[in-house]
Parts: sequence; structure tokens; C-alpha cells
Amino acid sequence: MRTQVGIIGAGPAGLLLSHLLHLRGISSVVLEKRGRDYVERRVRAGVLEQGTVDTLVEAGVGERLRREGLPHHGIELRYGGAGHRIPFEKLVPGRSITVYGQQEVVKDLIAARLAAGGDVRFEIEDVAVHGLESEPYVTFGGERLDCEVIAGCDGFHGVSRPSIPEGVLSVFEREYPFAWLGILAKVAPSSEELIYTRTERGFALHSMRSPTVSRFYLQVPADARVEDWPDERIWAELRARLESVPGFTLGTGEITEKGVTPMRAFVAEPMQYGRLYLAGDAAHIVPPTGAKGLNLAVADVRVLTEALAAYFGHGSAELLDGYSEACLRRVWRAQHFSWWMTTLLHTFEDDDPYGRRLQMSYLEYVTSSEAAATTLAENYVGLP
Ligand code: APR
Ligand code: PHB
Repeated sequence: MRTQVGIIGAGPAGLLLSHLLHLRGISSVVLEKRGRDYVERRVRAGVLEQGTVDTLVEAGVGERLRREGLPHHGIELRYGGAGHRIPFEKLVPGRSITVYGQQEVVKDLIAARLAAGGDVRFEIEDVAVHGLESEPYVTFGGERLDCEVIAGCDGFHGVSRPSIPEGVLSVFEREYPFAWLGILAKVAPSSEELIYTRTERGFALHSMRSPTVSRFYLQVPADARVEDWPDERIWAELRARLESVPGFTLGTGEITEKGVTPMRAFVAEPMQYGRLYLAGDAAHIVPPTGAKGLNLAVADVRVLTEALAAYFGHGSAELLDGYSEACLRRVWRAQHFSWWMTTLLHTFEDDDPYGRRLQMSYLEYVTSSEAAATTLAENYVGLP
């Protein structure tokens, strides 16, 4: 079997790449370890930057996103007993975000790929990549897929990155001493906009998925298990953290999903080796506080698509050679922003009173200085 681009992983990165390549007349095969049902149900983040929305709409997969996605023109930072709005329309006019679940993006991409006759294979075991220096091919379940290029879109725990010989990659990482417990609940959002809350009990985030479904996150210890968090405990803690301003009451409802996400930052450089190109979580992870993970994956894929179009269209490898460098500027900006948001809003066990004062002082600055708020807004809505 032969294709131009062998794509490992059917997350947002792999599926979008396959679709964008198809629109440029470039063939690909997507090999995914999990079942279709699993990837379509996996609940992840839900904030799409303008550039991400534009890419999906231009690729013809934005119809439901336009209909069901919730446009947001600001977020609230809540701390010290008061809420403070960061107004995007004033600070970064014309730029906003759209709240739409990542698994909805995945569903739309899978539907589009299949409708266009795309080759997306689920439940593929034992994927391995070979010949990265010159003649790349992928093996899986006794089969062999020859390709000209391999795209490693298989997330943080995939096989692509570990196939790069030792000593080639520089790895930068940081683990945070806490995790996020995320839930989905059948209840109308108690706020029109996202609320990022810092309290002495820890961080909490109120997000949403639709007019009838809310999404919440709680800062929890790094070793927290879902079993430690029965529904009543979750609501009590969400109330204690979110009902920290007068007059705000949190609506509660049936919890339909629970999960613990570790908080980690990671970058592998360069994002390429020979004929293997890494995109999305396979190359970098950000803590979710800045809502950048999915958006970075989409940005990588945009760059890789242009590079592959130049390569297959007129044999020019220049953009492919510069792929990693072209992506890493955005990746590191997002790393810094995500670190900054995380540091600003979480409680750290080893924080002394001085550290807490610094944090409060910075929060006050961000919510009172237009320049500082603009920095937050500009990064949150995403670099052009
Ligand atoms: N073989 C085939 N597929 C694999 C393998 C493997 N050995 N290992 C992992 N995969 C698949 C996973 O099952 C998953 O479906 O690769 C896919 C990777 O998808 P994601 O983890 O979603 O990563 P990515 O597409 O880069 O999306 C970016 O944005 O919100 C963030 O971290 C979040 O997933 C999100 C990311
Ligand atoms: C989400 O809705 O899942 C979400 C929103 C904002 C974040 C992270 C996750 O920073």
C-alpha cells in the first residue's frame, strides 16, 4: 500500500491535516489506535481561537461550528471577592473566541473525511514508523504503508516522537504540583462568559458547551483520583470557589462526565526528523489554563499543509525544512502565556505569604491596567 502522507493519530491534528491535504490534492492515510466512538466521545478543551475557526470554516468543516459554537467577547477573572471582565471587543477589536467542544471538531472532521472518501482507519494496533531518514514507511498489524512523508499526530503518548533517535531532540518540560478535575454537567451555564477564579482553596473554571451543558474544572492535588470526588463533593467545592462574589449562585445538575487531567508543559525540538514531522500534542503540551492545546495543533497543521503543498506541488523542500522553526515561535509564546495564566490563578503549596501577595498584586494589575489586560486578551484570542 502506498500514499503520499502517512498520518499517525486521528485527533484534531491528524484529521485536519488529512482533510487540508485532500483539498490540495495530496493523498494520505490516517491510522488511529482507538475506535471511532472513543475519539468522538473523548471530552477535551473547548476554546477555539479566531484563526482556528477560520481554518475550519475555510476547510468546509465549519457549518455546525458556526451554528452551534458560542462566540465569546470576553472572560471574567474572579479573585478577592470580586469579578473583573477582560473585554476583548475593547482591547482587541474584531477578535474573539468560540466555545465549541474539541470532540465536536473531531466528529465534524471525521464526517468530512469519510464523506470525501478519505482513508481513516480506527482500532489499528502496533503502529510503528521506519526509514525516517530516506524511505519512510509505517507498519501495523502485518501491513505496510509506504509513504513519502510521515506526520506524527499521535499525541503526547504516541509512537512517533519516541522513534526519533536518541540525542536528536531537545526536550523542555515542567510538571505542575496539581491537576485539573474536569466535569460536564447537564445544567445551563450560570454565567454568559468563562470565569477563571482564584481562591485560597485553589483555582476553579466555569466554562460551557451549550445553553444546557456546562463544563467546570477544579484545581486538585496531582495524585487526585476521580473516585475521591463524588458528585456532592464536586458541587460543594465548585460552590465554595465560584460563589466567591456577592449575588452569584451556581446552578447544579447531573454530572455526565468526570476526568483528571495532569498539568504539564512539554516541548520537543526540533519538531521534525528526516521525513517525520510532528504536529500537535506529539510535539508539545501546554497546561490548559490558556486554552491553547487544540489551537496550537491547528496552527502546526496549517504550517505543515503549506509546506507539503509546496513540496508535492513543485518539489520545493524549503518550507518543509523550516517547518519546526516556523511553528516554534507560536509554540513558545503559548508556553509562556499558559505558564503565566497558570501561575497567576493557582495556589501553590510552597507559596509563602509574600508569594500570595505578589500573585494578588499581579491580578490587580491585569484587571486595572489596560496595557496589562490587552496583553492577556491578545494572547487569549490568539496571535494572528
Ligand atoms: N498509533 C495510532 N494512534 C495513536 C497512537 C498509536 N501508537 N498513540 C496515540 N494515538 C492517537 C490517540 O488515540 C489520539 O486519537 O493519536 C491521537 C492524538 O490525538 P490528540 O491527543 O487529541 O492530539 P492532537 O491531535 O495533537 O490534538 C491536540 O489539543 O486540547 C488539546 O491536548 C488536547 O488533544 C488535544 C490537543
Ligand atoms: C473548556 O471549556 O474545556 C476549557 C475552557 C478554557 C480553558 C480550558 C478548558 O482554559
